[in-house]
Amino acid sequence: MGMNTLTVTDNRTGKLYEIPITEGAIPAPDLRKIKTGPEDFGLMCYDPAFMNTASCRSRITYIDGDKGILRYRGYPIEQLAERRSFLEVASLLIFGELPSQEQHDAWSEQVMLHTMVHENIKKFMEGFRYDAHPMGMFLSTIGALSTFYPDAKQIGDIESRHLQMLRLIGKVPTIAAYAYRHSQGLPYVAPDNGLPYTANFLSMMFRMAEPAYRPHPDLVRALDVLFILHADHEQNCSTSAMRGIGSSHVDPYSALAGAASALYGPLHGGANEAVLAMLNEIGTVANVPAFVKKVKAGEGRLMGFGHRVYKSYDPRARILKQMSDAVFAVQGRNPLIHIALELERIALEDDYFVSRKLYPNVDFYSGLIYQAMKFPVAMFPVLFAIPRTVGWLAQWEEMLMDPEQKIARPRQIYIGSGARDVPARPARRAEAGVLAR
Ligand code: CMC
Repeated sequence: MGMNTLTVTDNRTGKLYEIPITEGAIPAPDLRKIKTGPEDFGLMCYDPAFMNTASCRSRITYIDGDKGILRYRGYPIEQLAERRSFLEVASLLIFGELPSQEQHDAWSEQVMLHTMVHENIKKFMEGFRYDAHPMGMFLSTIGALSTFYPDAKQIGDIESRHLQMLRLIGKVPTIAAYAYRHSQGLPYVAPDNGLPYTANFLSMMFRMAEPAYRPHPDLVRALDVLFILHADHEQNCSTSAMRGIGSSHVDPYSALAGAASALYGPLHGGANEAVLAMLNEIGTVANVPAFVKKVKAGEGRLMGFGHRVYKSYDPRARILKQMSDAVFAVQGRNPLIHIALELERIALEDDYFVSRKLYPNVDFYSGLIYQAMKFPVAMFPVLFAIPRTVGWLAQWEEMLMDPEQKIARPRQIYIGSGARDVPARPARRAEAGVLAR
């Protein structure tokens, strides 16, 4: 018997099966050989929420949840956040290597060329109610983009794929900013391609009547770091949605609208919005112990705590905690930070959280920083979606190029009724009358 195999005895039949182990995994289709007889479908894995199922082999992002490690294409997130810009990291995620200066200049220029949106996109966005949630506007508008670019259906063509990527990465900040301006009743601000990517986004968000809007460089840098930290996170809920929808070979705008919808939920990208709501609800440092007690009693969750993969500290939270001071130095201290720090202190000492390995995740601090930067809370999931667009696209292309991938189609274990006959409907009086006529 080979060393890299798993031997399974089926106690129902006494038969022995040898299943190969590759890269720490067994191929689930091999379980189908394990049958009690020719009529038996064969064994399946039952894994709701994909707790222990790898759906792909990927070269993009590496996470060691126990050690708190996050790397993009092998580079530690801490070094990328310190030494590179968001667009360089975007290029790394999509093409696999850090760009040379020349490549980076060309890539940035191309992305910035695609920041403008068709005039009808503006009209489309004007159709939303004045109080529409910016994330709802964002994801619907991304879906609508597919109607503007029918060429995006050519997903087998590398040039077309890369053109759609440039369009999407270029346009997501514009759509995000327009969603915000619409919700405020403010006129849209056209992209300023003389500015770098994140500075241009701040200009489209906050420019009023200034002849030239120049955001504070420390805020631009902070936003760039936030974008780097959010750019990819391997097979999370929204990325799995991107891959799953994309596996039907739909265009990337439609797939990305679905991924953005998955991100909208409070257990995923909506969590930083929920963190702020929670901190506001707590209100004062003195109320923290009572709030923690309620959480431990099962009344709600500590938002911004816990992670499916990180079972020690989330490395992104550590970077953000440090960076919050730089933002507060420019914008003033967010008063909620005191409540957040006290919450973290108590939770990290409490056996309930320690035994369940619940630590602050990226969303615990990002909301406080975004709020200090004057972004409204409703924009938080949108701010997550802008950089994650890069990760979704990198993962989408990897999925399309992977010869092992097919349309995503999980199995189920049917637990409903057995076959039964539909009883004849007793004729109702009115029907009987109609029939009689
Ligand atoms: N507060 C209190 N208890 C919690 C929390 C929390 N935030 N998270 C998990 N638990 C408890 C949970 O009740 C369970 O306890 P028990 O074993 O007694 O039933 C145990 O910890 C395991 O929880 P789980 O729900 O099985 O864990 P999961 O891996 O399915 O959930 C999570 C991961 C992120 C959805 C969850 O921790 C959570 O809801 N956190 C709050 C929301 C949040 O901050 N989400 C942002 C995630 S990071 C950004 C991103 O990547 O999207």
